Amino acid sequence: MSNKAVITAVTNQKGGTGKTTTCENLGVGLAMAGKKVLLVDTDPQASLTVALGHNRPDDLPVTLSDLMAKVIQDQPIAPGEGILHHPEGVDLVPANIALAGTEVSLVTAMSRETILKQYLDRYTLLTILS
Ligand SMILES: Nc1ncnc2c1ncn2[C@@H]1O[C@H](COP(=O)(O)OP(=O)(O)O)[C@@H](O)[C@H]1O
Ligand SMILES: [Mg+2]
Repeated sequence: MSNKAVITAVTNQKGGTGKTTTCENLGVGLAMAGKKVLLVDTDPQASLTVALGHNRPDDLPVTLSDLMAKVIQDQPIAPGEGILHHPEGVDLVPANIALAGTEVSLVTAMSRETILKQYLDRYTLLTILS
């Protein structure tokens, strides 16, 4: 079996179409099947973060917007930084409303379409090395 990480994006412009529910259940299902799963909440409304038990996402010290800001500013990211662990066996990069501001900072960022991928590549590398 391949050890290569697979990225699955669940996306739809329309709200209420089951994106969050799909992410949560697919993630936990894959973890139950023995996969190592990192869920990345890319919604400033933070529904997935709340669904996984973090009722006050705006109080979290590190979320996806902080990690993406570090990539944009070429700052180091520590292994496991900002990652939350869930008893069902999935890990989570949480989101909060600050992610709405990330959209603005991406406008002037170099290679803005790759910032999230750059973060995920760094995460994967840090996980392998740690
Ligand atoms: N397969 C499904 N069958 C019935 N209801 C669903 C299904 N998937 C999601 N829902 C319900 O639909 C609503 C919207 O789902 P949600 O995952 O929050 O959508 P989105 O993230 O796209 O906004 C929620 O109340 C959820 O419980
Ligand atoms: Mg949602």
